[in-house]
Amino acid sequence: MPMEPTTLSQFLAEQLPGSPDSPGLGGLLADVATAVQHIAALTARGALADVQPELPLGQDNHQGEPQKALDILAHQALVSACERGSRLSGLAGLASEEQEAPQALPQAGQGPRFLLLFDPLDGSSNIDVNVAVGTIFSVLRHEPEGEPALPHYLQPGHRQVAAGYAIYGPATMLVLTLGRGTHGFTLCRDRGHFLLTHPDLAIPAQTSEFAINTSNERFWEVPVRRYVSECKAGAPGARGRDFNMRWIASMVAEVHRILMRGGVFLYPRDSKPPGRPGRLRLMYEANPMAWLVEQAGGAASTGHGRLLDVPPRELHQRVPVVLGSRDEVERIERYHAEHERGDDVAFVSPLFNERSLYRPEAWADTSQ
Ligand code: F6P
Repeated sequence: MPMEPTTLSQFLAEQLPGSPDSPGLGGLLADVATAVQHIAALTARGALADVQPELPLGQDNHQGEPQKALDILAHQALVSACERGSRLSGLAGLASEEQEAPQALPQAGQGPRFLLLFDPLDGSSNIDVNVAVGTIFSVLRHEPEGEPALPHYLQPGHRQVAAGYAIYGPATMLVLTLGRGTHGFTLCRDRGHFLLTHPDLAIPAQTSEFAINTSNERFWEVPVRRYVSECKAGAPGARGRDFNMRWIASMVAEVHRILMRGGVFLYPRDSKPPGRPGRLRLMYEANPMAWLVEQAGGAASTGHGRLLDVPPRELHQRVPVVLGSRDEVERIERYHAEHERGDDVAFVSPLFNERSLYRPEAWADTSQ
């Protein structure tokens, strides 16, 4: 008889004993999974989802971005599931993309305490077109006594104790790391629980697939232009092979593809809104995704260094993101370093010469 796949609860019960975070962390992740099931049901109802008349629709959130009904409902689902379980799980506070300030929760008992940061519905501009969206979350420890204040949330990504995302696509999946590999669970709608279907995900070190919003090309920095133009040049160009490009405009869907078959994703710094360091949020988008990717053997960088080492200054801080197959991420970091040293003149001078910009084969790559 085929073996029954492991459930999420069994997986957590096997992974956490002996860990200082057990059993609170297991309880917290189970609460997140409950909220994810609720959000999956809401997103699957599409235009039939109950939209509460009191929702402040058509407005922008505190970050000036358009807020959809499902953004608010997903936020509420996470807050209520995690708030309800907080005394047992040790969840001391939470912070959401949809809320300017973090929220402290009733004080828990004696065990370890945690902070939960999340983007309740990432890629929500895709809701109207029925394309995959997701929830991204990050768990940090809260060690000091008393209620958490804003500075307690500002911990670098390498301090995370759990991170994950849910993807609401044709299937709903929960992808999780506790620092021992990255594992994918599929929601069994008949039984109402998650089953371990993708244990130990592994991102191949090499890839010929990249994802970036090329409409921003004229705003990119030189190293990113160099990298993308080489990919686009394909077999006759510096890279000596053809590349494929994807852009779903939903980070969860892009990272999921990379975890399934490799690839590299870039949302780099650009000068479109002058002075903005990037588009994606460090604490609840970049950090959890970076850790999931690293735990699957990939790499995640700002272009200048490891994403998980970026010191946070603000809860909603933005950051440039380059993540995925290790060799490509390292190459992009190298292009940034070469640019800083002025070693990419072979690229820079033709860059300012329209004719050569579209002939990247003009600068040979010797490091294949
Ligand atoms: O966080 C916002 C987000 O929707 C990501 O999921 C996605 O990668 C990105 O923005 C898309 O940005 P753009 O609309 O600029 O392509």
